[in-house]
Amino acid sequence: MNDRFLRACRREPVDATPVWFMRQAGRYMPEYRALRAKHSMLELCRTPELAVQVSMQPVNAMPVDAAIVFADILLPLEPMGAPFEFAKGEGPVVHKPIRSVEDVDALHSFEIAEGLGYVLETLTLLRRELDGRCPLIGFAGAPFTLASYLIEGGRSTHFEKTKSFMYSEPEAFSRLLAKLSDVTSRYLRAQVQAGAQALQLFDSWVGQLSLTDYQQHVAPHVKSVLDDAQSLGVPVIHFGTGTATLLTAMRDAGGTVLGVDWREPITTAWDRIGPNHAVQGNLDPAVLFAPWEVVEAKARAILDSTRDRPGHIFNLGHGILPTTPVETVQRLVDFVHEYSANKAESA
Ligand code: CP3
Repeated sequence: MNDRFLRACRREPVDATPVWFMRQAGRYMPEYRALRAKHSMLELCRTPELAVQVSMQPVNAMPVDAAIVFADILLPLEPMGAPFEFAKGEGPVVHKPIRSVEDVDALHSFEIAEGLGYVLETLTLLRRELDGRCPLIGFAGAPFTLASYLIEGGRSTHFEKTKSFMYSEPEAFSRLLAKLSDVTSRYLRAQVQAGAQALQLFDSWVGQLSLTDYQQHVAPHVKSVLDDAQSLGVPVIHFGTGTATLLTAMRDAGGTVLGVDWREPITTAWDRIGPNHAVQGNLDPAVLFAPWEVVEAKARAILDSTRDRPGHIFNLGHGILPTTPVETVQRLVDFVHEYSANKAESA
């Protein structure tokens, strides 16, 4: 069993730095594009045999140290009463965005096994298929990031609808985040019961908030989700982007591992987080389009700066971009393993 990733999450010694990538299954892989030519994104998610196949594609193409279940953070929205689709070129589109207090109160709770049973089945099948090759990560969206899709109706640059709702209807906004938190807590628990060995909570867009607004409107909800998740006994990665100013508040909200983006050096972020947490990151996904020498130098800088700190998980600062060259990703995985293993020996 390759347990480097789980060991690093617990800040235990490792033979080499573990590496995996957010969005490691997806459009940059020809195998994925071939399946997507025949099935929609939601069909892939909702058909466990296909979702297992897609989750295995990166694991089969390169020796990553973790698999992540193929699903999407938005899947819980439909069983709550907010159907959406992935529209070509536009990203997610929520058919009836939330714009009023009544819309919030109309969202409902649901049994995870009923509304998202297909994700649980995928996890169970995938865990069997992996057979110890690497650990399996389950995941969910954090309440603010999910609420932003529900309120904006899709992707956003300034998040003005979300923020204006938060400021003008703070109680309804809090009820919305509480509903999302309840579903997310139960969903994460069900994922661990189905076979997930670690969890990642994606708060991708939380960096849009000021520290004060994060602490007032968001942190208590995230904390309730992360408290519940950490009681499950598996490592929990708490991830966001643009979070340099929020990191200590995010750490206080919870998570055994903090995921950080590339906007500041990983050790600057880690110094602020403190030595009692593992850290995941933080290569800029766009660096993978650079000549190999540049990729290698930037990866080496991350590994050199973290070598004396137990608990580093190598990853990008955000998901792999759809046109990333596969060969660069494969070469990076080998480089991280080889370079960090030699460092471990010579230490
Ligand atoms: O990491 C993995 O390999 C597992 C699968 C995964 C997907 N989405 C598959 C996906 C994971 C972990 C996610 C998380 C997710 N989804 C996040 C958080 C991570 C992040 O990037 O910040 C967010 C914000 C979403 C919402 C979402 N899903 C968007 C904005 C889009 C469209 C944008 C785009 O890239 O086209 C999706 C669609 C989506 N989710 C795709 C994949 C592989 C592309 C679908 C396709 O094939 O067309």
